[in-house]
Amino acid sequence: MSEQPSESKLWGGRFTGATDPLMDLYNASLPYDQIMYDADLTGTKVYTEGLNKLELITDDELSKIHEGLEVIRKEWAEGKFVEKPGDEDIHTANERRLGEIIGKHIAGKVHTGRSRNDQVATDMRIYVRESLKDLSLKLKTFIETILKRAENEISVLMPGYTHLQRAQPIRWSHWLSSYATYFTEDYNRLQQIIARVNKSPLGAGALAGHPYGIDREFLAKGLGFDDVIGNSLTAVSDRDFVVETLFWGTLFMNHISRFAEDLIIYSTAEFGFIKLADAYSTGSSLMPQKKNPDSLELLRGKSGRVFGGLSGFLMSIKSIPSTYNKDMQEDKEPLFDALTTVEHSILIATGVISTLTINKERMEGALTMDMLATDLADYLVRKGVPFRETHHISGECVRKAEDENLSGIDQLTFEQFKEIDERFEKDVLDSFDFEVSVERRDALGGTAKSAVLKQLKTLKSQLE
Ligand code: ARG
Repeated sequence: MSEQPSESKLWGGRFTGATDPLMDLYNASLPYDQIMYDADLTGTKVYTEGLNKLELITDDELSKIHEGLEVIRKEWAEGKFVEKPGDEDIHTANERRLGEIIGKHIAGKVHTGRSRNDQVATDMRIYVRESLKDLSLKLKTFIETILKRAENEISVLMPGYTHLQRAQPIRWSHWLSSYATYFTEDYNRLQQIIARVNKSPLGAGALAGHPYGIDREFLAKGLGFDDVIGNSLTAVSDRDFVVETLFWGTLFMNHISRFAEDLIIYSTAEFGFIKLADAYSTGSSLMPQKKNPDSLELLRGKSGRVFGGLSGFLMSIKSIPSTYNKDMQEDKEPLFDALTTVEHSILIATGVISTLTINKERMEGALTMDMLATDLADYLVRKGVPFRETHHISGECVRKAEDENLSGIDQLTFEQFKEIDERFEKDVLDSFDFEVSVERRDALGGTAKSAVLKQLKTLKSQLE
């Protein structure tokens, strides 16, 4: 190991011994943080404008710096950026390269009063903000696709389930609208998170603040932030925006996972309610007849990795002392992985829902008369009998039909109904209609056509 000062490292001044090569690898974040090159260069661009306002950089130096930054941006964009040993992360790599392009004398000024601590927090917030805005657009398209489908297929009925047992008839569009409601909540929650992410740490320095009185509001404005983080210690150490993003992704993936699970069940031969398009299914290498819902299984399975990222990162940052500690570099891999996973999941789910076909006959064929037992109870309620009593009477009818080996309660004769309860009248036989049952549930949020159409309209307006 050499005893020379470490020349290749931007922070090399006080070090004499070389680092263990494995330590270099262990420490480096460039392999994954280079994804933020654009945010890093823009951050430096605006930061140097701030330094120029303080006359720490001349106009001429500023324009050279800006030209150099654009050269680097182009290199990254075209995949031509050449990494060098000592490029620990995106910040050091870009600064090293700037020195090569415009000379170390000028490039050496860009970091005046700045630390990688406020720099990385700035880059991350810009990167997360832009990624979440993009996710938000894709999520909106996904929800709109569900709403369109729900509008088009409003007439189709199917069983609604509790405990995965047939419960009451509902509209297929009511089911679609249920998930659209979850996803619209995710959408709304995302806008709130974007607002909290979009605050500027830049100008906080390493922790204690800026020694030359930089105009932090000017920096924030230049970078599209809505606000400045009001405490420099917090500015460099706060990763709540990463945690919130991971939590958001986890909850969204949980919703996606339940959505996928329903569709997996509906796509089995036993149900046969839906058929996935070939584009989102794959075959078995052994069994020629198989068509597997891999897209849906991955949507379900990938919820695990996003939650894993959240719990892992929470463990990494629990009880780290203030302010910046290297543990915080562990924010990147789970975050970037979650953003990609969620983005791809939204796109796949959009593809799945826009291409699957439904089998109306199978859906409606799965409706059984016992699912109208509540409607039978409601019939007597309308005749003035208390519900607790009617629930019991309806149960007796179900038992009677079973005892008589009938296919359903609708097969009981009017006389048999009368025997069970005097208050049944001839019109009881009209109770056994799925469409009527569904249409009765027209209170807000229910499964009647008017109620479902209203839900779709409300959701649509929330996306505007
Ligand atoms: N790569 C580092 C990270 O992502 C940048 C900040 C380094 N700061 C420091 N004081 N070593 O966290």
